[in-house]
Amino acid sequence: MAVQRTFSIIKPDATNRNLTGAINAKFEEAGLRIVAQKRIHLTKAQAGVFYAVHAERPFYDELCEFMASAPIVVQVLEGEDAIAKNREVMGATNPAEAAEGTIRKEFALSIGENSVHGSDAPETAAVEIAYFFSGLEIVG
Ligand code: TYD
Repeated sequence: MAVQRTFSIIKPDATNRNLTGAINAKFEEAGLRIVAQKRIHLTKAQAGVFYAVHAERPFYDELCEFMASAPIVVQVLEGEDAIAKNREVMGATNPAEAAEGTIRKEFALSIGENSVHGSDAPETAAVEIAYFFSGLEIVG
């Protein structure tokens, strides 16, 4: 498997609880390199565009409200098989189902306030990275 890049978000529940460093340590321990990172505060409309794929789901409005409720940290992570590796480090969407040692098991509050986002495929990673970062901001 080649070196990949994936897009990551440290979500409002985690920035509120000052967990950025603890979450970044998990990424780095897993061999993921943070090659771009910035702290931003989304509007609800911007969150809505990012999560447009979920627009018809019952949790969409609440999800967009939550993502706009406090600052987030957006990141590009790089490494061997980075997309799958990051999903593994994150753990299952619902923290009650997440494996021991994963970010969501350790830090997530609920299925909605689940601390991190990570791209699920190369195509979505490319779109998500481009939504938040210019090429000049990614330093591998
Ligand atoms: P999803 O893409 O299914 O999960 P993941 O973040 O693990 O890729 O869902 C996107 C986000 O939507 C999820 O992180 C939290 C929120 N969500 C809910 O609030 N309720 C739900 O029932 C689901 C499935 C997701």
